[in-house]
Amino acid sequence: TFTPRIFSGIQPSGGLTLGNYLGALKRFVEKQDEGIETIYCLVDMHAITVWQSPADLRRQTREGAAAFIAAGIDPKRSILFNQSQVSAHAELGWIFNCVARMGWMGRMTQWKDKAGKNSENASLGLFAYPALMAADILAYKATHVPVGEDQKQHLELTRDIAAKFNNDYGVNFFPITEPVIEGAATRVMSLRDGSKKMSKSDPSDQSRINLTDDADAIAAKIRKAKTDPEPLPDTLDGLKDRPEARNLVNIYAALAGLTPAAVVAEHAGAQFGTFKPRLAELAVSVLSPITTEMNRLMADPAEIDRILGEGSARAEAIARPILDEVYDIVGM
Ligand code: ADP
Ligand code: NA
Repeated sequence: TFTPRIFSGIQPSGGLTLGNYLGALKRFVEKQDEGIETIYCLVDMHAITVWQSPADLRRQTREGAAAFIAAGIDPKRSILFNQSQVSAHAELGWIFNCVARMGWMGRMTQWKDKAGKNSENASLGLFAYPALMAADILAYKATHVPVGEDQKQHLELTRDIAAKFNNDYGVNFFPITEPVIEGAATRVMSLRDGSKKMSKSDPSDQSRINLTDDADAIAAKIRKAKTDPEPLPDTLDGLKDRPEARNLVNIYAALAGLTPAAVVAEHAGAQFGTFKPRLAELAVSVLSPITTEMNRLMADPAEIDRILGEGSARAEAIARPILDEVYDIVGM
């Protein structure tokens, strides 16, 4: 049996979005506050699987750390660090490159989406990314990983890698990690296209709400969000074939801490001309204290670096003995 331990990460490949907040960050804070051991990481080595300018990467990593803290992660209770400072991730990632199979990686939908038709030109790192993600998690023998729905397939691959390692070497060394995908906003969609998830890497800034957006920008983006001409229905059933409308209801629910059914019941019959300003007001009331706190923290980058350095040392202290055992199991 394995001690319950939570690990999760976010890529500093751009500014964090409302999708990252509702699908990940907010839930990371809930787990921390439940008193489980929590380890959270800015996965900068994942970020460079697609080109990042060094200055942007450095700023985005600090900004990501500021977002974690502003959202409620307490670097004393949780371990907060960046991946590249703990070399166990890269080392275990290599071992998992030798455990995972090419065919498994080739079936990852995120690889297919991100590499697109021009996969000959995608980085080798982008292809191997899920093996490094398995290493991020298993370097701590994490038992639970809170994530958004888009990471479900990668978590299954982590389980496959752990099982194959255990089987190949005849050990019961790695836990079979459980994904924790819960809440009203496990998949926040783009504000411009109800078939795409909201993402920090979407080329259109109008498609997402950034944690650094001010109140006017948030209101304008929600006002212009794509919807249909129908008012809100009486029950959730009425949103079945209305992905954009459903998305705004889900966002409202997650921000308010309600179920989508309760939101629909409360706003039944409202036109989007009425519902959108209510949603904007709610979003601003939740996000603006976070934005203010992020800006305050970003004014002192040395303090952020100090926090990440301290977190890295604590992460290293857990991961290194586990990695030493892995080398021993493998015969190194
Ligand atoms: P992005 O796709 O914005 O670059 P990451 O790959 O860094 O985000 O994911 C960080 C975390 O945020 C993961 O747990 C992921 O599942 C979650 N996440 C990302 N986008 C969304 C979204 N649109 N809705 C819900 N959760 C999301
Ligand atoms: Na992602």
